[in-house]
Amino acid sequence: MFPTVRPRRLRENSILRKMVRETSLSVCDLVLPVFVTHGKSVKNSIKSMPGIHQLSVDMLLYEAEEAVELGIPAVIIFGIPKSKDPRGLEAYADDGIVQRAVMSLKKEFPNLLVITDVCMCEFTDHGHCGIVSQGNVLNDPTLGYLAKIALSQCQAGADMVAPSDMMDGRVGAIRKELDANGFEMIPIMSYAAKYASKFYGPFRDAAGSAPQFGDRKSYQMDPTNVREALKEVELDIQEGADIVMVKPALAYMDIIKSVKENFNYPVGAYNVSGEYAMVKAASAQGWIDEKGTVLETLMGMKRAGADIILTYHAKDAARWLNDCK
Ligand code: PBG
Repeated sequence: MFPTVRPRRLRENSILRKMVRETSLSVCDLVLPVFVTHGKSVKNSIKSMPGIHQLSVDMLLYEAEEAVELGIPAVIIFGIPKSKDPRGLEAYADDGIVQRAVMSLKKEFPNLLVITDVCMCEFTDHGHCGIVSQGNVLNDPTLGYLAKIALSQCQAGADMVAPSDMMDGRVGAIRKELDANGFEMIPIMSYAAKYASKFYGPFRDAAGSAPQFGDRKSYQMDPTNVREALKEVELDIQEGADIVMVKPALAYMDIIKSVKENFNYPVGAYNVSGEYAMVKAASAQGWIDEKGTVLETLMGMKRAGADIILTYHAKDAARWLNDCK
């Protein structure tokens, strides 16, 4: 008891503080999300996500070069197609925007890990993550499409696929398709516990993927649920997921922690667009310190149990982390 016990003794100086740190945050933990679009020399800013752009493939290469120089190990690609249709045909076209981006990235930067988001919402005219009939998002008929999308991304050279659609059975369907085509070594990072969240707003501006009717509550999870998240994670692991992701991150730190404690599995956390937008908006006003806030937030995700963090702050965070080495 005090005064014998004094926690402040180990906070006395920075050497001691560093020695007893319990959590570490490294550039190696980060994944940079990128938005790729058709055309040449395109660099469209996204109003609700300052610093993030829709990039044509040629411009994406500059972005990737920067990421590689900063030591960021991986990117995750989201595509904006030329045109949208009910089945999201471009999502699995050989010359689709994502496939083209993957090919160019792998050619120029063979050591950059290229992850592809597997979903239909960016490619469908109705903006839902699956096949729609009479106002319903159908589960089973969607699975074949998702498997095709993942396969075509792997054929283009993707190093990892990340299904974000939340259909039941999709990890199994994708695993089966990849294995049947010689891609048994390609890992699946599933968006295992993905909530129907208001924090995706800015992303939907960036990807033009807002649902044109209704919402995603019949497939994404209810924000009140914990037990259901553990069930989703368990199912994805049984179906062959290699990394399980929780999304969003900030309002779901308890879920990250529970997943980490309940399953001996690598956990991803998606620091989503709305979380990014809040920090950017407040720091632009001078109301918070951006660097400190971002690093504290990312560290919090690591402390909660995340092994990997997908974040739009990746380049800035990498700069800041490299500085303090
Ligand atoms: C596609 C997808 C979404 C995000 C990642 N993949 C949006 C959604 O479900 O509507 C959101 C990412 C973010 O907000 O940063 N299904």
